[in-house]
Amino acid sequence: AYALVHDPDLAGRHVVVSAGGTREPLDPVRFLGNRSTGRQGYALAAAARARGAQVTLVAANTALAAPPGVDVVPVETTAQLRTAVREAAATADVVVMAAAVADFRPAESTEHKIKKRDDGHVAPIELVANPDVLAELAAERLRPGQVVVGFAAETGDANGDALFHSRRKARRKGADLLVMNPVHDGRGFGTPDNEITVLDRDGTVMTTAAGTKAHVAGVVLDHVAELLRRR
Ligand code: CTP
Ligand code: CA
Repeated sequence: AYALVHDPDLAGRHVVVSAGGTREPLDPVRFLGNRSTGRQGYALAAAARARGAQVTLVAANTALAAPPGVDVVPVETTAQLRTAVREAAATADVVVMAAAVADFRPAESTEHKIKKRDDGHVAPIELVANPDVLAELAAERLRPGQVVVGFAAETGDANGDALFHSRRKARRKGADLLVMNPVHDGRGFGTPDNEITVLDRDGTVMTTAAGTKAHVAGVVLDHVAELLRRR
């Protein structure tokens, strides 16, 4: 029904969405990963398609049905996600980084399965930093005038609340919009409903919204469409 009632305000636009969570291999059977299901990213891709956009969905380790009419590019690691997103971004009007991207990866991935040792010794895992795909996209703007959107799941900590952290992140990343969802009471990961605060690149709060992931996706795309209109 949503597809029928909404204005095709993204017609003629190419929208790239990353979704899910990247996995970094440790050996052929093990990885470092995260709990992202990809549902918010899929909702964004479906909503953008319903508003008339051509949509590329770079999907990291999701188990969801592809939204109709959306081109899905499956990836596993952060390196693969980075390559796929950047390739699609070369022709994109909008890039939304909804994926949970691993900040670190094992320095080495072994060819053979790591075995338990008889003497009980456990080797530490050395990690190295992954590139920040969103910050790169925001700095480089692979296509002029491209709108770049980040997501941030935040909790408060001893240094400040979720909004404090997302304000700093908005300024640090340089994306046009940063969509923060507070993680508390089981919300944020693996739940059907969502709440968000949309910040601009200065960290100013534009909107807060709550509801289904489809509703939240619509609110994010309203802001994206407004930025596109102003360019
Ligand atoms: N992101 C990215 N590449 C990374 C890490 C994150 O593109 N290596 C993107 C995510 O897709 C998201 C945004 O950056 O759109 C914010 O991710 P988040 O993990 O909240 O930010 P970090 O900068 O990694 O900060 P931290 O995890 O320390 O809070
Ligand atoms: Ca991170």
